Amino acid sequence: MGTFVGSDPARAGMTDDTGEPQSEGDCGENQTPKPVGASQSAEPVNVQDFQRLAKAALPAPTYDYITTGSTDEVTLRDNTAAFQRIKILPPLLTGVAKADLSTTILGERISMPILLAPVAGQSLFHRDGGLASARGAARAGTIFGMSSSVGNSVEEIAAASDGPKWFQLYVPKDRGVARRLVERADRAGFKAIVVTVDLGERKDADRRNRFALPRPTLLKHLRDVGFDVHAGMSDAELTAFNEQAWDPALSWEIFDWLRTITKLPVLIKGVLRPDDARKAVSLGLDGIVVSNHGGRRLDGVPASIDQLEQIAQEVQGKAAVLLDSGVRRGTDVLKALALGADAVLIGRPYAWALAADGEAGVRKILELLREELELAMLSTGCPDVKSVHRSLLQKIGPN
Ligand SMILES: Cc1cc2nc3c(=O)[nH]c(=O)nc-3n(C[C@H](O)[C@H](O)[C@H](O)COP(=O)(O)O)c2cc1C
Repeated sequence: MGTFVGSDPARAGMTDDTGEPQSEGDCGENQTPKPVGASQSAEPVNVQDFQRLAKAALPAPTYDYITTGSTDEVTLRDNTAAFQRIKILPPLLTGVAKADLSTTILGERISMPILLAPVAGQSLFHRDGGLASARGAARAGTIFGMSSSVGNSVEEIAAASDGPKWFQLYVPKDRGVARRLVERADRAGFKAIVVTVDLGERKDADRRNRFALPRPTLLKHLRDVGFDVHAGMSDAELTAFNEQAWDPALSWEIFDWLRTITKLPVLIKGVLRPDDARKAVSLGLDGIVVSNHGGRRLDGVPASIDQLEQIAQEVQGKAAVLLDSGVRRGTDVLKALALGADAVLIGRPYAWALAADGEAGVRKILELLREELELAMLSTGCPDVKSVHRSLLQKIGPN
């Protein structure tokens, strides 16, 4: 199911297993929970706390949809493990007492180098869905990356928040629909188009749970994109329509075509190979998101953070370099900046926070990560984002 693109919701015959996710479902779950006593606050203080709250708040299939990764979840686990392998070597006595976390990405001044990644299905996580996330990002002074499948139209998101927004495009086969969608995003004030080119989520938990979008949600989603679907279509017809609506066989030409229909900056999301980064730069793309989509696509690919340094070296500042997949702490952001990212995006952390507490949750998780990053910068003598440097790290790589 996943991103609702090329979804396969009606897989019958799956045994009804526990549905317990194997990896990040264990995030904090294996630790014996401490009783919350009078002296302890029930306020979430980190991403894991929000994950627990989300698990308590959501139906299990929805929680699993957010939390789990593809097939054996090797990549999902490695996304967080790879960050933990990288060690910080802080210089002492740097005399730095204040850190400015603000930065500029593709001409947009933001309060910190942490953006919200495009996340589908948010109306299932909280009644205010993507509207709450867009507002939470705006209040925190950062960019909301809107998924094509978020559960709202570009116009609804724009009406909810005048903060900076990027639009993530899954490319419809019908290029007329694609063109009109990009034009609507532009008119609605979105500042960039992020193209996700690789499709196909295969998550065992979703298949076991027979996770599927409720009919009204799927109908709204397809209409929001601009497809001509009518209420009289049967469930099977709607599902079949959704299956064939998206282009699974894109090539680099899509970016030439996009240039002919929009002047907005264009980013490609999902880059893991330096040669793909080089190609993107040679085509004049404005930004690259080093990403394995949070381990939700092809399993067995490397952690994004392990690919970042090579890719940033290939790009040489000719395009913005962003990274997502596995960012859970301010120190992870510091590590990504040190390895060449201009900024990072978070996915699950804010999806959990949205489920736990709507807009306030999204705002809170961004503030927690901001505080953690600030402390990490002060502890390593970095007065601003630009001064976060490779020399602050001890070693990188899977070994
Ligand atoms: C529930 C969920 C839905 C997602 N939907 C989309 C999507 O519609 N489009 C997209 O490009 N990526 C999507 N992603 C991937 C995120 O944009 C991002 O790459 C990923 O979540 C980053 O990893 P993290 O969750 O470890 O932070 C989704 C992720 C989650 C958790």
